[in-house]
Amino acid sequence: MALSKKMQDALNDQLQREFHSAYLYLSMSAYCSAENLPGFAKWMRLQAQEEVGHAMRIFDYLDDRAGRVVLQAVERPPSQFKSPLEVVEGVRKHEEGVTASIHKLYAIAQAEADYATQTFLHWFITEQVEEEKSTTQLAERLCMAGDNKGALLLLDREVGTRSSAE
Ligand SMILES: [Fe+2]
Ligand SMILES: [Fe+2]
Repeated sequence: MALSKKMQDALNDQLQREFHSAYLYLSMSAYCSAENLPGFAKWMRLQAQEEVGHAMRIFDYLDDRAGRVVLQAVERPPSQFKSPLEVVEGVRKHEEGVTASIHKLYAIAQAEADYATQTFLHWFITEQVEEEKSTTQLAERLCMAGDNKGALLLLDREVGTRSSAE
């Protein structure tokens, strides 16, 4: 069964959103590095890589379903941030938006009775639970550190132990 035009367009929009996430997190990584927080910089860089992985999942799926990948412009992310907390809060809020867009995509797949796309999206729905959990925890721990530079440096070291883009 061929992908509907509506489903294909919605998947291409999500592909763009994943690249936009990657771009945003890469910009945040650069900011953290400039702020001498190599742990956060590494975490954000791996997060950016992970987003490219999400985009490529959609790219491959469109291809598998004989759909057409249509790459869109990726908007320019901010390059300056107020604080590490603003960065992490930004990731958390951004991921909430991604969850909402994945859910919208799922609703379209349901309306179109596109069962293959529903199954494909299950992975993303589960992934968003993990993303929201990890980013909420990071934001809350950064909040706890407050103005304590020692706590920030300790957290930076811990966050820097992340080793995979998953
Ligand atoms: Fe993603
Ligand atoms: Fe993840």
